[in-house]
Amino acid sequence: MEKKLIVKICTGTLCYVMGGAELQLLDEQLPAELLAQVEIQGSPCLDCCNREDSQGAPFVKVGDRIIASATIEKVIDAIKNELNA
Ligand code: FES
Repeated sequence: MEKKLIVKICTGTLCYVMGGAELQLLDEQLPAELLAQVEIQGSPCLDCCNREDSQGAPFVKVGDRIIASATIEKVIDAIKNELNA
């Protein structure tokens, strides 16, 4: 069986209030062919909001890549990139 790309949506407080709540709808927005290749998980604080050099909650992790100021569109783009890589 093919390994799925793990997508972790931060559900920590900061990310949640900064827009993470909307990101929970990702699975409804993702085209079916992509949805079949990813596993979407909620994650406690990804520990990005504490880093001085990183700004822009909400954070989502797509594979090993952290997406800052994540929107559904940005996450879908990142998923496409990862799956084509
Ligand atoms: S609350 Fe999301 S990275 Fe900390």
